Amino acid sequence: MTEVKSIAVIGAGLMGNGIAQAALSAGFEVTLIDVIPAALLKGLTAIDSRLQKSVEKGKLTAEEKAATMARLSSGGGLAGAAGKQVVIEAVPENIDLKMKVFTELGQVTSPDTILVSNTSGLSITRLGAAAKRPDRTVGMHFFYPAPVMKLIEVIRGLGTTEETYQTAWKLAGQFGKTPVTAPDQAGFIVNRLLVPMMNEAIFLVAEGVKPEDVDAGMKLGANHPMGPLELADFVGLDVLYMTQLGLFENLMEDKYRPCPLLKKMVEGGYLGRKSGKGFYQY
Ligand code: 3HC
Repeated sequence: MTEVKSIAVIGAGLMGNGIAQAALSAGFEVTLIDVIPAALLKGLTAIDSRLQKSVEKGKLTAEEKAATMARLSSGGGLAGAAGKQVVIEAVPENIDLKMKVFTELGQVTSPDTILVSNTSGLSITRLGAAAKRPDRTVGMHFFYPAPVMKLIEVIRGLGTTEETYQTAWKLAGQFGKTPVTAPDQAGFIVNRLLVPMMNEAIFLVAEGVKPEDVDAGMKLGANHPMGPLELADFVGLDVLYMTQLGLFENLMEDKYRPCPLLKKMVEGGYLGRKSGKGFYQY
């Protein structure tokens, strides 16, 4: 494939706007797309204010920030992805929604566009089939916060060609990240390990252990940068619940059962930092 220059990111939420920022910092022309105008505005503002913080910290000049923002455009519909060489989907982790997005992307983009999903565990094979573009569909799983975290899991669907896979692998390097190959199976590598750890931490809380003690345990006893409950609040309890449920339904083993307290908190609007309350108050 010719050198990638233009990327569209679908979904302006926490992951989407972070991926768009990482792509901008890597020098790509980026179009951020969201069907919800308020979400799009929030995503664009988040990128601008993070770059502004970098200017204030002296990591970026005001001119560099302006040049970076000049490579960012936005759109409200998937048609905005037409003509881009790579489209990275980062909409909420819901199979029906992702299938709908991939079906539409298969219609609005040209046959040689690389279709990437940032799913944290849904089947790349299934998304490629929805787009009728299995050869050009590949997974690139970024981690939150995407501008900072160094890993990208690259996932091949059954029909992904070697060329598509290699393009994604190279792209990860251009983003300044380290790629690893992960299987097209719920949770890939990292979430298969990390998400059950957070789920187990919630079982401990349900059994009466204080969140502060669980978190101190993992920070001081295992050198984790954040405790599992701080991390759960950071990524969002709704995201965590959907991912744990995905492990349970796809790998069909009791050991992946979501903790009932997690489900109850999500239903009660305790989503972590983004809703102002989770295991801690914000
Ligand atoms: N968005 C973007 N950038 C952020 C950020 C955010 N939400 N939070 C922090 N940053 C940036 C800061 O701006 C700073 O950038 P700089 O070095 O250019 O100035 C850098 O991160 C370090 O931030 P701080 O100095 O303020 O704070 P820390 O040193 O405490 O680091 C952290 C913050 C990087 C978030 C660190 O606590 C950490 O690594 N936590 C664990 C994160 C983790 O495990 N992520 C994976 C989550 S699971 C996942 O994503 C999978 C999904 O599918 C569920």
